[in-house]
Amino acid sequence: MKILSIETSCDETAVAIVEAEGGLSSPNFKVLGNALYSQIDIHKEYGGVFPMLAKREHAKNLTPLLVKALTEASEFIETQNNYTEEKWQEIKNILSREDELYDDFRKVFEKIQKPNIDLISVTSGPGLAPALWVGISFALALEKLWEISVVPVNHMEGHIVSVLIQNEDKEQVKFPALALLISGGHTELVKISDWGKYEILGQTMDDAVGEAFDKVARMLNLPYPGGPEISKLAEEADALNIPQKAKLPRPMLHSNNLNFSFSGLKTSVLYYIRDNGPLSDTDKKDLARDFENSVVDVLVSKTETAINETGAKTLIVAGGVISNKKIRQSFSELTKRYSDLSIKLPTKDLATDNALMIACASYINIILNPDLKNRTKNIIAEGNLKLK
Ligand code: KG4
Ligand code: ZN
Repeated sequence: MKILSIETSCDETAVAIVEAEGGLSSPNFKVLGNALYSQIDIHKEYGGVFPMLAKREHAKNLTPLLVKALTEASEFIETQNNYTEEKWQEIKNILSREDELYDDFRKVFEKIQKPNIDLISVTSGPGLAPALWVGISFALALEKLWEISVVPVNHMEGHIVSVLIQNEDKEQVKFPALALLISGGHTELVKISDWGKYEILGQTMDDAVGEAFDKVARMLNLPYPGGPEISKLAEEADALNIPQKAKLPRPMLHSNNLNFSFSGLKTSVLYYIRDNGPLSDTDKKDLARDFENSVVDVLVSKTETAINETGAKTLIVAGGVISNKKIRQSFSELTKRYSDLSIKLPTKDLATDNALMIACASYINIILNPDLKNRTKNIIAEGNLKLK
């Protein structure tokens, strides 16, 4: 089955074309086209993602990215179509909430042959509502144009299944599985009894891990996104054997549940800077390292509790923050302590937001429920969509 997928939940605009096969027992994904544009440089000035700017950028970039993905997949075939004015009017209505998308869309897709694609999938949440809407409107316009069904995808389910895309790792996910999702917007421990059966065991009460990294980086005058900057400083602290001076708390470590909290940790960093400032470069490296260690201690400890409680056989850790080297290593070490637990981590490219994981999630969902293709409800953006 060939799937065209679209992701616009935050600051990455992504379009992919994936050939999926193998069913639920041995799903296999071949990437035919993959086009992604990161808006990070645009949002850097604001120190974070600015929703209306993200929306405008998605609208500007979706059409060229789709053309790129179609070209890669050898599905870009120029032709002169005879779509009726009535059809264009309907498409114009679908795209009416997105400024300037219609003109571009018509100019380009009027001259492209309908591609050989079975399904279109699009992220419908969670994320920034104005950003999500652009992707949804675009997908629905394509559905109208090409008469190919659109199915909505939960972005967090996308992060979970991102680990299925590495082709060299043939080991299947065994159930019950446990997923720790760590990104700029989420920190969640999820029990997976089977594909499509999710239960949130714990989550952050305030800031997400990635958000805490970004905010601490800002306090140290480092650019957005802060995660990679903090981890670079922390690595330097280790490499230079800088003695440990900062002693930050390990929030919620001994709470009797699987929830997290990172806003107190962030405040501790703020006080540390206030009481010890101005910090030297060495002090900053030391502080970044202790912050990272605090995050690692809490994430690993809660995950260990959840493994023991669920009897998980596969541990998945996904989301942008799993690009962090120390976090990757710590989870690999944790897994070694269990004889019948294997770990699956996405590669760096698949850890941050992308459209491949959205295609992958829609494949799993369409197998579980083929009726998804015959939609009875409108697809709407759900900024706070939960896994269930
Ligand atoms: O999953 P993602 O690409 O987007 C969301 O859905 O949020 O995650 C982005 C987050 C940002 O907060 C970024 O600072 C963080 O992932 N991140 C990192 C690292 N690389 C990215 N955090 C810690 N260490 C890293 N190396
Ligand atoms: Zn994400």
